[in-house]
Amino acid sequence: MKEIRLKLLPYQRRVFQSQKPIIAFVGGTGTGKTWLAARWIVLKALEHGGEHLAISPSLKLMRRTLWKEIKKVLKEWGIDYEKNEQDMIISLPCGRIYGVPADNPERMEGVHAKSAVFDEAGQVDKRSVFETAFRRLRYHRGQLLITTTPYRWNWLKELYDKALAGDPQIELVTARTIENPYYPKDEIERARREMPEWRFRMFYEGVFTKPLGLIYPDYELVEPFEIPESWLRIRGLDFGYNHPTAVIWLARSPEGVWYAYRELKKSELTLDDLYNILKEENIPTYADPEMKQGLETLRARGLDVRPAKKDVLAGISFVQGLFKQKKLKIFSSLNKTIDELSSYSWKLDANDQPLDEPVKENDDLVDALRYALFTAEGFRATAPAYKPIKVDFL
Ligand SMILES: Nc1ncnc2c1ncn2[C@@H]1O[C@H](COP(=O)(O)OP(=O)(O)O)[C@@H](O)[C@H]1O
Ligand SMILES: [Mg+2]
Repeated sequence: MKEIRLKLLPYQRRVFQSQKPIIAFVGGTGTGKTWLAARWIVLKALEHGGEHLAISPSLKLMRRTLWKEIKKVLKEWGIDYEKNEQDMIISLPCGRIYGVPADNPERMEGVHAKSAVFDEAGQVDKRSVFETAFRRLRYHRGQLLITTTPYRWNWLKELYDKALAGDPQIELVTARTIENPYYPKDEIERARREMPEWRFRMFYEGVFTKPLGLIYPDYELVEPFEIPESWLRIRGLDFGYNHPTAVIWLARSPEGVWYAYRELKKSELTLDDLYNILKEENIPTYADPEMKQGLETLRARGLDVRPAKKDVLAGISFVQGLFKQKKLKIFSSLNKTIDELSSYSWKLDANDQPLDEPVKENDDLVDALRYALFTAEGFRATAPAYKPIKVDFL
């Protein structure tokens, strides 16, 4: 029998020793997450046989990292295997490893896996990929290993908080980049000097932080669902030439909760392309009034495009209020909107105090969001409560 010797760092050993159904290894960049994920899944496959899942945020990332590392380990350990790169399957003497890109989670359906790893899971805002993987493991009571840096406050933060609160199902292992002696120290120091502190703490210390002066710190994600026909729908639109054009679709539930359910963000989109997308659903669309030309063209072609109210501060404050009161939620499938929400910040003064002005960066969808909500609700607020009565004297 072949002997495999693994030299583990102390925090990596805790991962290998855990028997819990979910192991969340939340660590800084370069803490050996992918190194560990590949070895853990290969050993599980060799030990138990059967089917195993190796999940990455996308096919491209998977081929560059986890998939590559798995093949490297097999070679290093002198284990024979066959691979099918087309279908992303590695067959071992006993057991198989399926590569699953998180944007194609259907690949997991029908598989009763004995273990799964999800590398850089925090990049995938949709909770359903994690849930599907966990569900596919229940038949064999297999373990799920998550190896990730914190990226944003999504389902992973909730899982992390649950673990901190003592959930017996979850083993939480954390590590800072500096704890990996193989990682160059001067690189860490350079990052510490050059990055905003919150970013450094997130990516090199593995703790969930938020940028200083975040404008919408309270945004909440929900799993996508079918929007009922009867709900009111509107859109926000921010035209761009050099900047991307951004559109966000919103629907209001009978309880008065807004759901952002669809997004579009694309550079060099022609007015024709935009028209073709918007005409799929001709709903009130609140657009940047300064782009008169575009606005008039779309209207002339029959779309319900209306000029948005552009009072930036009042608009932001209105949207903040909606988030605070839990009257605005974002579908977790809206990656680009979530990316903007998690970085859209106030400018800071020399003492890091927020000023009354947003940083004009990566703000296309958040602007579209504000145009739609502020204008639509604003109109309602100022509309007369009753129709004037016309009296005719005979
Ligand atoms: N136990 C270990 N023994 C030897 N090298 C390790 C060990 N853990 C991690 N490394 C090395 O540390 C570096 C970073 O690992 P990697 O898995 O790419 O980090 P991450 O995925 O966390 O960014 C790699 O060069 C890897 O080979
Ligand atoms: Mg990695």
